[in-house]
Amino acid sequence: MRSISYPRQPMHALHLFCGFPLHITVAMKLSLPLLATALSGAGAFTAVNNGRRSLTELNSMRQPIMAGNWKMNPATEADALNLARGFCAMLTELEDTCAMDAKEGCTEVVVFPPFPFISKVKDIVAKYGITVGAQQVYYENKGAFTGSVAASMVKSVGCEYVLCGHSERRSLFSDSDVNINLKVKKTLEFGMKPILCVGETQDEYDLGITQEVCAMQVSKDLRGVSKEDMRNVVIAYEPVWAIGTGLVCDAKAANDVHKYIRTILAKMYDEEVAQSTRIQYGGSVTPESVDGLMAMSDIDGCLVGGASLFADKFARIVNFKSD
Ligand code: 13P
Repeated sequence: MRSISYPRQPMHALHLFCGFPLHITVAMKLSLPLLATALSGAGAFTAVNNGRRSLTELNSMRQPIMAGNWKMNPATEADALNLARGFCAMLTELEDTCAMDAKEGCTEVVVFPPFPFISKVKDIVAKYGITVGAQQVYYENKGAFTGSVAASMVKSVGCEYVLCGHSERRSLFSDSDVNINLKVKKTLEFGMKPILCVGETQDEYDLGITQEVCAMQVSKDLRGVSKEDMRNVVIAYEPVWAIGTGLVCDAKAANDVHKYIRTILAKMYDEEVAQSTRIQYGGSVTPESVDGLMAMSDIDGCLVGGASLFADKFARIVNFKSD
């Protein structure tokens, strides 16, 4: 497996960064090292949450979250149920398994099967504290929208999460930021949690505009989402060039993007939201790469595609070694 690291982000192409005025963008870029230094200080205490919580405490409140996005796999219901059963069996066999609910120190685990399999997969995995989610929803409540699935529908079969803005929906199904924003808000309206996927394409990566792309997507896709609702939002940074290619992003480079996304959240909301929002990395995550990724300060979990279709691989990913 090859890993890849980012070039330094040049200062050109700021025009793409629509969510913030140019001077704020430049200021954020210039102040990033200072901010990073300030945030990394052990026991750093700031005026977060009315001065009651340190940044360190807020960081430690971010429960790890591992998610398996099965995409349009496997081919049949029987195969899907076998995958779910196999994964649960692996979890019970592994030592130190700590998948499962929100117990302190545990990792939250979510799987995203195709719509027809959600109910039965949920019946299998729920006993293990694993939740299910929908790979997408439409933003209307009901009506003549052939082929679409409403938030109320996936909620009624037990979904707790919805993927919003996955790059495959953006590129293959023309999901715009306006529509993604509506889907994020619809997901929240129905008491579910969006996992908002953002990330640059290969061309954008080559242009060195990763930060601008992520900032634009985060700011547009979360427009109108309240600070209170941000407690239920997870962000997944998924560089498009890393998805399904075997080119896992260098852990440190991914961590830098995660830190940058937190600066955007701080601008949009405040430092408390920036530090408490969970941000996953996605793109060719494997058992071999997960430990390095999860050792990073600002990577709170992974959104896994291909490897989540193998019970043993996904079980190992869920049981990443944090030290
Ligand atoms: P891969 O893990 O197959 O690269 O897919 C990542 C992804 O798109 C998860 O949503």
